[in-house]
Amino acid sequence: MTQAGFIDAAEAPPRATNEIKLYGPEGFAGMRKAGRLAAECLDMLIPHVVPGVTTQKIDDMAREFVLSNGALPACLFYKGYRHTVCTSVNHVVCHGIPGPKTLKEGDIVNIDVTVIADGWHGDTSRMYSLGEVKRKASRLMDVTYECMMKGIEAIKPGARLGDLGAAIQEHAERQRYSVVEAFCGHGLGRVFHDSPNILHFGKRGQGQPLLPGMIFTVEPMINLGRSDVALLSDGWTAVTRDRSLSAQYEHAVGVTETGFEIFTQSPTGQHTPHTSGAGAS
Ligand code: MF3
Ligand code: CO
Ligand code: CO
Repeated sequence: MTQAGFIDAAEAPPRATNEIKLYGPEGFAGMRKAGRLAAECLDMLIPHVVPGVTTQKIDDMAREFVLSNGALPACLFYKGYRHTVCTSVNHVVCHGIPGPKTLKEGDIVNIDVTVIADGWHGDTSRMYSLGEVKRKASRLMDVTYECMMKGIEAIKPGARLGDLGAAIQEHAERQRYSVVEAFCGHGLGRVFHDSPNILHFGKRGQGQPLLPGMIFTVEPMINLGRSDVALLSDGWTAVTRDRSLSAQYEHAVGVTETGFEIFTQSPTGQHTPHTSGAGAS
């Protein structure tokens, strides 16, 4: 018997459902492989994210990497999107579209990749810095990484989604940064964007209780200024309304009997803030 509001993923229809899917060992094994490949893709890009590179070139390298490893880029042709990664530079909050734009010294960029490996979705993103970046930019990236990890560390059976959101919001607001509310994390597995929505703000003790077998992303977007976002006319690119800097990190995680498992950990330990090709310390 599955608890009300939940469904055994093995018996669930292969689409987004209102009921939350609970995955068994097979799902966790599939997510481990997909998550690792996505993380390896972000690792592979590190030495290439240097001043002068175009975001299109980054997308090309990511696509080739994913395909040559026998996986598919989940974003390619997703809702009309034409690229493998999102490249969100400086005040772009998320869903920045790769193109002829060249990255320059001092920029910060989030690269977000999702792979489909054996039917499972590995979804992860990190910040990269281009050469020397301003102190306020590197602090924003550090704190955003900490926000993601504090959210993840709140995950265990019986905890609630509000605990996760509150941990993120409290850490961001303590630095006088703001949490973007217009975008959230999501359940994933064989489906890319499934329920539940994972809000990166909230109140402790509120929201959906967590059960072992749940799989979802934690992907907070944190702004130096106000939290309001605007959508550009391309229909994808979300920017901060006040054009202040924004940062984001994303991991895909599963709820275990005792806590959580991160599927998208960098095998080389490089999922840390602002690692770049130029040997950032
Ligand atoms: N990877 C993004 C996420 O974290 C989704 C990008 S959808 C795209 O959910 F179509 F913009 F690529
Ligand atoms: Co995601
Ligand atoms: Co993503």
